[in-house]
Formats: sequence, C-alpha cells, structure tokens
Amino acid sequence: MDIVGDLKKSPNKNPAVNVHVEVLVKSNSTAKRTEVRMYVHALLNRHSVVLGPYKWTEFDEDFLTKHVESVAIVDVEHEVHYFLLLQYLSQPIDLKSRNLCIHIFTLNNDGPSTLNLEEDEELSAANSWLLPAAEFHGIWESLVYDGGIKTQLLDYVTTTIFFSDKNVDSNLIAWNRVVLLHGPPGTGKTSLCKALAQKLSIRMSNRYSYGQFVEINSHSLFSKWFSESGKLVTKMFQKIQQLIDDKEALVFVLIDEVESLTAARNAACAGTEPSDAIRVVNSVLTQLDQIKRHSNVVILTTSNVTEKIDLAFVDRADIKQYIGPPSVDGIFNIYLSCLEELMKCQIVYPRQQLFTMFELETMGYVESDVSFFSLVLRDIAEKSKGLSGRVLRKLPFLAHALFVKTPTVTLEKFLNAMDRAVDKQLEEKANLVNCV
Ligand SMILES: Nc1ncnc2c1ncn2[C@@H]1O[C@H](COP(=O)(O)OP(=O)(O)O)[C@@H](O)[C@H]1O
Ligand SMILES: [Mg+2]
Repeated sequence: MDIVGDLKKSPNKNPAVNVHVEVLVKSNSTAKRTEVRMYVHALLNRHSVVLGPYKWTEFDEDFLTKHVESVAIVDVEHEVHYFLLLQYLSQPIDLKSRNLCIHIFTLNNDGPSTLNLEEDEELSAANSWLLPAAEFHGIWESLVYDGGIKTQLLDYVTTTIFFSDKNVDSNLIAWNRVVLLHGPPGTGKTSLCKALAQKLSIRMSNRYSYGQFVEINSHSLFSKWFSESGKLVTKMFQKIQQLIDDKEALVFVLIDEVESLTAARNAACAGTEPSDAIRVVNSVLTQLDQIKRHSNVVILTTSNVTEKIDLAFVDRADIKQYIGPPSVDGIFNIYLSCLEELMKCQIVYPRQQLFTMFELETMGYVESDVSFFSLVLRDIAEKSKGLSGRVLRKLPFLAHALFVKTPTVTLEKFLNAMDRAVDKQLEEKANLVNCV
C-alpha cells in the first residue's frame, strides 16, 4: 500500500493519523476562536487518550460550559485499509501522538430561504441554507454505509476544493467539481449530499468563512416552467452566481433526482412533451458548465435510477458513487442507534446494555445473559436485509405504533414488536414487487 515505504524497506508501522476535532460553539457565545481553541487544547491534554470516536457535551470547566455545546472527535483518518480502521476505531486513540485538526464552528438557525424569481411568485425555484446549518446537524453521523464510503467521498471533494484553490490546470490533471450519487430510492443520497456540504463547510472554515447550500427544485423546474422555456433557468442561475461572487463562500448546488431532467428530455425527443423541455434541460446543462468554472463551487447531483442516467450528466461528473441499501452490519448499527435513542427517551425502559457488532464478534457471538438481546437484534437485522435505509429508520416508530400497546415498553417486548414490524415491511415489499 505504501509503495515508497515498501521500497525503502521500512513499512510504516504507525500510520500518520489526522484526528479531526469538531467544536460546536453556542450561537449566543461571543468568545474569540483563539480562546476557544486554547481551552479545547487544554481539554484534550487532560484526556490524552480517548476510545474511538468520542463526544463531550458536559465539561468540568467553566469556560467550555459557558461557550461550547460539544467537542467531538470524529472521522479518524488513516492510511490503512478500512477493515483495520473499523478495529482501530474501537481502540484507544492517543491524542498526543496524532495530528490534531480542530474545527470551530457555530450553527445557523435561520432555516432555508427560497430563491424566488418573480415578485408575485409562490413558486420557489430553489431553497438555500447558510452552512453550517442547524437543520443539517447530525445527518452525517446518522448515515451508515459500508466500506468507508462517507470518508472516501469527503476526501475526494476535499481534494477537489484544494486543487481548485491552488488553480491546478484541469487540462493537465483531469478533475472537476461535479459529484453524482446514484442508487435505489431511500438509500440516503439526498441526505448524504446535505451532510457532505455541512461537513466540508466545517472542515474548510479556515479557507471559506461560510457555506451556501442551494437545492434546485428539479420537479418544479419541469412541471411549471415549460411555458417560460429557458428564461427562468437563466434567472435562477443568475441568483446562484450572486452567491458564488462572494469568494468567502463555498457554494454547494444540489440537483436532486437528475433523472427528471433526463425523462423530460427523452419525452421531448419522442414528441410526447413540448420541445421546450429540450431547451430547458440544455439551458440547465449550459448554466452548470458556466458555474462550475468557479473555484468555490461544488455541484452535487443524485439519481434514483442507475442504468439510464443521461450521459450528459454522467460525463460531467468526476466522482460517481453508487449508494446501495445497507449490509447486515449497517442495518444492525442503524437499529442500535434507534434503540439507544428510545432508551435515552425512556420509551424503552429499563435501559439495557447492547453490544456493537464488533464487540459481538470479539466475543465470538457466544450466547449469554449479557449478549442475548444483542444477538436477537442481530437476527432481526439479518432478516431486514434488502430494506432501504429510509424504511429502517422508520421501523422502530412503526413497531411502537402498531405492536406496542403501552407508552413505555421493555427491550424484550420492543424487540418482538420490531420483529413483527419487519415481517410487515417485507410483506409490503413483496406485494409491491408482485404488483409491478
Ligand atoms: N444508509 C443509511 N443509514 C442511515 N439512514 C439512512 C440510510 N439511508 C437512508 N437513511 C434514512 O432514510 C431517509 C431518507 O433518505 P434520502 O436521503 O431521502 O434517500 P434518497 O435521496 O436516496 O432517496 C434519511 O433521512 C435517512 O434517515
Ligand atoms: Mg433523494
């Protein structure tokens, strides 16, 4: 893996690791960042070793209590293979020997503003958020994927922004700032785009003072705008251009479900839609090519169909990532986070210890009083294979609504309810398939 190290016959036994520390400062705090940084350093010094990813929300010290919401150690970077990373994450991280990257940020509570194109228009062409946005907080952590997809995407886009900033000639080294996430519906693609943008705006806060996230509403673009042909598209991109003109801003433009553009274009070619559709799609593509010249822009696109994405989009995207339904391990982790939340809210009561998949594996999946419920959960996860992330996150709610008759419930009863809810979902899925 480390070719130079191998050549020198000195394999890197202790891989260089960046530890990212995200410090969320309270929105009413007026503390200087340098001061916050100093206190966070002191905190990390007091706890020179932490176990895996870690988050402080309470502090034994006044300054941090007053000004800081949370200090989180996240996304430990590595030069080793992912399966090693998984093991590594459950092991102690020695903060002293690592390269600490401290990112200090506050959240914008404003919610989305709409980019309206006409005075009397109720039609919104796009929504935009100032990043980091309160609404996007926690999405990154809630998304569970296998094989380090999240970190890989983050690294890709980080490099992209870095290359743009350094003005690397893209004729000599091919790269661009267009990302395409494709895969079945409900696998978290839209959420991942939001999470990525949020994460990058936090990571890049040394370079860009804030982020903008513009979500273009592809559906309204096509349902209502045909009669106006490409004129409104141009207008919308003019508004986006205004955001890009502030070089202090890192601007993310999301075009969700690009297949709706493709569908419109194909329909037009087949003569079933007015040919205006072609003009609108072409106008979007031209405008995209215009804005992607700017170094502070990242274009994020998603598609729910994998095979039939318009070549025009595939060609434009440098980073194409397939996003599929979670594996059994992923499902287990999603359920685990749901159950932890329900125990925290005392809906599932009393609290019981549940093990992670890694801990279960370490214990050799041996059944005992302490591992029993975790093993049941693993069986439920196994059975849930093929359900989308969207369904999985809804499942504990459905389990409670349909199969729990009391407000609070023991873990044992709740696991039974979840098992039944999974059966119901699988049945519905099978019915849907039969209908098609
Ligand atoms: N891999 C996953 N891990 C955790 N949650 C997921 C996952 N995939 C989907 N979800 C949940 O499903 C919801 C819907 O996802 P969304 O981003 O709309 O999917 P898509 O855009 O692919 O249709 C999200 O809010 C998220 O909570
Ligand atoms: Mg989506």
